[in-house]
Amino acid sequence: MIQSRKIVIIGAGHVGSHCGYSLLTQGDVNEIVYIDIDRDKAEAQAGDIADAGCFMPHPISVRVGDYKDCRDADIVVLAAGVPRKEGQTRLDTMGDSIKVMKEIVDPLKGSGFEGILICISNPADIIAYYMMKHTGWPKNRVLSTGTSLDTARLKRVLKEAIGVDPRSIQCFSMGEHGDSSMIPFSHITIGGKPLRELMLENPQTYGTLDLDCILERTRRIGMDIVIGKGSTEFGIGTVLADMVKAILHNEHRIMPVSTLLEGEYGQEDICVGVPAIISKKGVEKIMELNLNQSEKQLFEQSCDIIRKHMALAQQ
Ligand code: LAC
Repeated sequence: MIQSRKIVIIGAGHVGSHCGYSLLTQGDVNEIVYIDIDRDKAEAQAGDIADAGCFMPHPISVRVGDYKDCRDADIVVLAAGVPRKEGQTRLDTMGDSIKVMKEIVDPLKGSGFEGILICISNPADIIAYYMMKHTGWPKNRVLSTGTSLDTARLKRVLKEAIGVDPRSIQCFSMGEHGDSSMIPFSHITIGGKPLRELMLENPQTYGTLDLDCILERTRRIGMDIVIGKGSTEFGIGTVLADMVKAILHNEHRIMPVSTLLEGEYGQEDICVGVPAIISKKGVEKIMELNLNQSEKQLFEQSCDIIRKHMALAQQ
């Protein structure tokens, strides 16, 4: 029997609709089902995406459904929540986001879903933790796109600065998917060569890179897009489709995701962005980079910020 690949997307707003469209164009799924409290809007988004489906070289069904659809889904994407407005941090949306999650967690848990839950809703690290704790599902099955998008942004910033294709740049943004994200610069390699080495050997070119500016720019891109057009959507939709592909094809690709740390990086009981091996099991294994002293400090500061807000979420 040919296996059908079914993805349920909870939330049919900007992010959810772009996730669906990205999944459609990547061609790795057969069925996309939307769940949203605004069923009319979900119908409209599903219809719009289904129209585009007529031009794809593979058949795909895009429709509206309900939590019963999660039962045999391979992956559920959590894209419901409250979009942040100009000047708001992702953490500022936490209270309203948790209210939305409270409506979702029981029906999702009760659906009999046995696949992988990918949380996108912000604040992404806290929402992943909340969903993991309240579903009781094992930690490999619940993750967030976390700093995957920040990592894509970092690659773009580096490409613009050094003129090398992003696919030849190995780097990670880690920590909070938010304003305290950090970059372990000591682990960046360009074509296998450490960035630090390139900077020393090429003082006129690589040597002029301003690493603080690169970090700041990487952190700011999301808000610049929100200011310019109201929301981010294409970037996150593409990141999501890439992650879905890694899971469905059991790729064992290393991606930065927000996952539960239990001692790794000296952290306990927190979801935060770290590189991990992604397979059909979801998070297969966390990769522990040997961070240098200042990187460790930045990572810890980011975890402290998440933890402080986690405590508020539990009140
Ligand atoms: C962003 C949203 C997805 O950074 O948090 O674009």
